[in-house]
Amino acid sequence: MEELSKLAESSIGCTLCPLAEQGRTQVVFGHGNPRADIMFIGEGPGSNEDKQGIPFVGTAGKLLTQLLETIGLEREDVYITNVVKCRPPGNRDPKPEEIEICTNRYLFSQMDLIGPKVIATLGRFASSVILEMKNVAMGSIHGQKFIKGTHLVVPIYHPAAALHSRANMKPLTEDFENLRLYVEEKAAEEQRILAEEAQVENEVVLDEEAEQMGLF
Ligand code: URA
Repeated sequence: MEELSKLAESSIGCTLCPLAEQGRTQVVFGHGNPRADIMFIGEGPGSNEDKQGIPFVGTAGKLLTQLLETIGLEREDVYITNVVKCRPPGNRDPKPEEIEICTNRYLFSQMDLIGPKVIATLGRFASSVILEMKNVAMGSIHGQKFIKGTHLVVPIYHPAAALHSRANMKPLTEDFENLRLYVEEKAAEEQRILAEEAQVENEVVLDEEAEQMGLF
């Protein structure tokens, strides 16, 4: 079985953190293409997600789906998940202990196993966790590129923030359009690195052949 499916299966009925006993219906692991170029990370499941077991299926999720359509993508093309996989009671923010346990056990592995070209963190909460930044001001960092380990991370507004304040819709739409561009840039960079590696390998082989033929 694929590693990601194994990890998803291992998350069913997870009891590693206190959220397991605070009224969640089920673990909402993640949804979409395991080989996606773009991965979205939100905060945590809300009540709709908790019922259906799928991230971003409520009002904010509908806007996320629409924004994907504007850049020619469907939900099945990308991968969508959250920092924590279980619904915090009353939609409170996840606590540091819950975040630490859940990200170490699931999210960081999801990021590595999927290996997307771009990770878009949705809103202040997910952005501060992934970028390890305190007091994130979305107004100043949204749409910018950050490197975190092997990952290219782009913080963007949470769709709920755009529903709450229409002024956030324009930057969110623009950032979505740029995501496609960033994917293309990253793909081109990966191709360039591969070509360079192939050339170095080729030169080594040629040197070895020349040496064997006594040319050196
Ligand atoms: N908001 C989130 O951050 N995640 C969801 O899954 C739904 C709404």
